Amino acid sequence: MRIDIISAVPKLLDSPFSHSILQRAVKNNIISIHVHDIRAFGLGKSRQIDDYQYGGGAGMVMMIEPLFNCIESLNKERKYDEIIFMTPDGALFDQKTANSLSLKRNLMIICGHYKGIDHRLREHIITKEISIGSYVLSGGEIAAAAVVDAVCRLIPGVMNDETSALSDSFQDDLLAAPVYTRPAEFNGWKVPDVLLSGHDKKIEEWREKESIERTEKLRPDLNH
Ligand code: ADE
Repeated sequence: MRIDIISAVPKLLDSPFSHSILQRAVKNNIISIHVHDIRAFGLGKSRQIDDYQYGGGAGMVMMIEPLFNCIESLNKERKYDEIIFMTPDGALFDQKTANSLSLKRNLMIICGHYKGIDHRLREHIITKEISIGSYVLSGGEIAAAAVVDAVCRLIPGVMNDETSALSDSFQDDLLAAPVYTRPAEFNGWKVPDVLLSGHDKKIEEWREKESIERTEKLRPDLNH
């Protein structure tokens, strides 16, 4: 999968893809992530990318031309399955969306800043609008990094069997069961006996029961 991210603050995205699982996936050529500085398409000597909003009101708006030209330069190179805009008023991101995006070949992600982007881009160019939660971040970069991480870990080969994404919370709309590691007792706090029993079927049943109970208690909205 190829992911192109358009940003006004590309440095914010230096680190999230340079470590751990995503770094390995990049090294193994399973994914490639390209960050583009919108300012390279800015207007005039000052490389302007934002302007006052029509009708008045506080806050600047990202101009249509620099973004449009940047998007078009990428569209000329390849066909994108989705052109995604990160915005707090987008559709709430969830595991189902991550699963479906993980099946795509080419994704473009636009990070918003200031008051947002000229709405004509949302009407005519953007194909999907995503929010990572009902709160406002300073820009779309951290939200984009969260989406890229959640999507990429689902691509075959990105994680090994041990860290398989299939047992993650939210697959099947269930929270994952609790996990423990050595020692079996610490401070008098014990690991549940069943996990030490070596009885695979009983362990599986216990995990399923815990999953259902935790989901009912902590996330009743997931409807199990
Ligand atoms: N940009 C600012 N806040 C955001 C959010 N909650 N989700 C996605 N993009 C954003």
